[in-house]
Amino acid sequence: MSRRQIFAGNWKMYTTHGEAMALVEGILAGLSGVKDREVIVFPPSPWAKAVAERCAKTSIAVGMQNMYYENEGAFTGEVSPAMVRDAGCRYVLIGHSERRHVFGENDGEVNRKVKAALSHGLEPVLCVGELLDEREKDLTDEVLARQVNGALEGVDAAGMKKVIVAYEPVWAIGTGKVATPEIADGAHRVIRRLVGERFGEETASVLPILYGGSVKPDNIAGLHAMEEIDGVLVGGASLKAESFLDIIRVK
Ligand code: 13P
Repeated sequence: MSRRQIFAGNWKMYTTHGEAMALVEGILAGLSGVKDREVIVFPPSPWAKAVAERCAKTSIAVGMQNMYYENEGAFTGEVSPAMVRDAGCRYVLIGHSERRHVFGENDGEVNRKVKAALSHGLEPVLCVGELLDEREKDLTDEVLARQVNGALEGVDAAGMKKVIVAYEPVWAIGTGKVATPEIADGAHRVIRRLVGERFGEETASVLPILYGGSVKPDNIAGLHAMEEIDGVLVGGASLKAESFLDIIRVK
């Protein structure tokens, strides 16, 4: 089954405006000749519009790291789906583990955000993944079922075609502890089965499922070789053009 291959960089709360623009320039300069894979960057929200303008008519797509689900209102500090669109973003990360565990987002909020993204023509990158404690207690499949089913409640088959899932085990994020290719592949299989049960095999078979958590140039090859891994969502190693490009160019 040939699926989209997606290499995404989540810049989190890093980069000045100047650094963000230099980073995108560096990535663009190294992308000529890269044909069979898609590249997405998620800059901090204040730089999203400038990055999106620079990336228009290039092979890099741009996404926002988060948004709120209401259309507008007295929600100080939040960004609406229409604002994400207006900034030139095609994608939006929903339910990143830092949103869930630092800011307390729950599955219900994640679900409202997924539906709001879809209804505004945005393509959500839904992030799921278990904590170390949950993995050690053998609860990974249960956690994935709760997160996937919770996030996709009320989403229809047409909407699901616009969703990307990122499996990011919390214990592997920013820790240098990458999941083994086999662990990641196994979790992706569980996610694809869950999506198949809700939306049918055909939809599940084309769903891109990305792995995230300490992806680096020196561990990408093993991950990329796995059948169920359709790309990666990279944090730290996406902040330098050269290391992100080394990951994107994996054979
Ligand atoms: P690191 O690659 O820095 O572990 O971060 C992963 C991540 O959270 C990407 O969204």
